[in-house]
Amino acid sequence: MKTIGLIGAGHIGSQIARLAVAHGYDVVISNSRGPETLSGLVSELGPHARAATALEAARAGDIVVVTIPLKNYRRVPVEPLARKTVIDTNNYYPQRDGNIPELDNESTTTSELLQAHLPTSKVVKAFNHIYAAQLTTDGRPSGTKNRRALVIAGDDPAAKAMVTQLLDDFGFDTVDAGPLKEGWRIQRDTPGYGPRRNADELRRDLAAAKRYREQ
Ligand SMILES: NC(=O)c1ccc[n+]([C@@H]2O[C@H](COP(=O)([O-])OP(=O)(O)OC[C@H]3O[C@@H](n4cnc5c(N)ncnc54)[C@H](OP(=O)(O)O)[C@@H]3O)[C@@H](O)[C@H]2O)c1
Repeated sequence: MKTIGLIGAGHIGSQIARLAVAHGYDVVISNSRGPETLSGLVSELGPHARAATALEAARAGDIVVVTIPLKNYRRVPVEPLARKTVIDTNNYYPQRDGNIPELDNESTTTSELLQAHLPTSKVVKAFNHIYAAQLTTDGRPSGTKNRRALVIAGDDPAAKAMVTQLLDDFGFDTVDAGPLKEGWRIQRDTPGYGPRRNADELRRDLAAAKRYREQ
C-alpha cells in the first residue's frame, strides 16, 4: 500500500494528507470545487502529493479516505472504489447534514450508509473521534507507554488489518469495535468521542456507550 486517495480536503482530509506524506505515502487529494483550488495545500505537502478530482483520487488510492460532510455521501464515486478499502471518517450532525431518518431512528449507522452506497468496497470506520488538529500532534511510535488509541469498525478483516497498519504507521494504537453496525459506540456524544484515550480507556468507553434513545 503506497498511495492514499482522499475525497475531502478540509480539516481532516488535509491532516491525514500531512500524516501520510510524513510517513512515506503518496497522496492524491480532492475536494468538491476542483484540483486548482488545492494548489496551496499541495505545495505545502510537497512532491509526494497531487490534487485531482474525486474520481481520480478514488482511482489512484490503494486505500481511499472519505472525509466529507455526511450529507454528501451519495456523491462519492462508486465504480472506482469497487473492492477497495475505504476509510470513513464521517459523523452525523443534523444541523449541518439535515435530518437523515434512518440515523435519527438508529436503524443504521453512518458507516453502514456509506457501505450501502459502496456495495463492493470494504468500508472501515476510522478517525471519526479525534479532533483534526490532534492528528499531527498526538501520534507516538509503536510501543510508547500510554499511546493514544483510535477506534476502527468494519466488516472485512483484511481491510481492518490494513487500516490498523496505517494507524500504527501514523502513531496510534487501534481498538476494534467490531462490525460496522457497532460503529455507533463511537458516534457523537458517546464517552470516547473526542477525548484522548489509550487502548484500555477506549475499550471501557466503547462498553459504556449508550444509544441516543437511551441517553
Ligand atoms: N473536524 C474534525 O475535527 C473532525 C473530526 C473527526 C471527524 N470529522 C468528520 O469528518 C468529515 C470531514 O470533516 P472536516 O472537518 O474535515 O470537514 P470540512 O473541513 O468541512 O471539509 C470537508 C471537505 O469535503 C469536501 N467535499 C464536500 N463534498 C465533497 C464531494 N462531494 N466530493 C469531494 N469532496 C467533497 C470539501 O470540499 P469543498 O471545500 O471544495 O466543498 C472539503 O474539502 C465530517 O463528516 C466530520 O463530521 C471531523
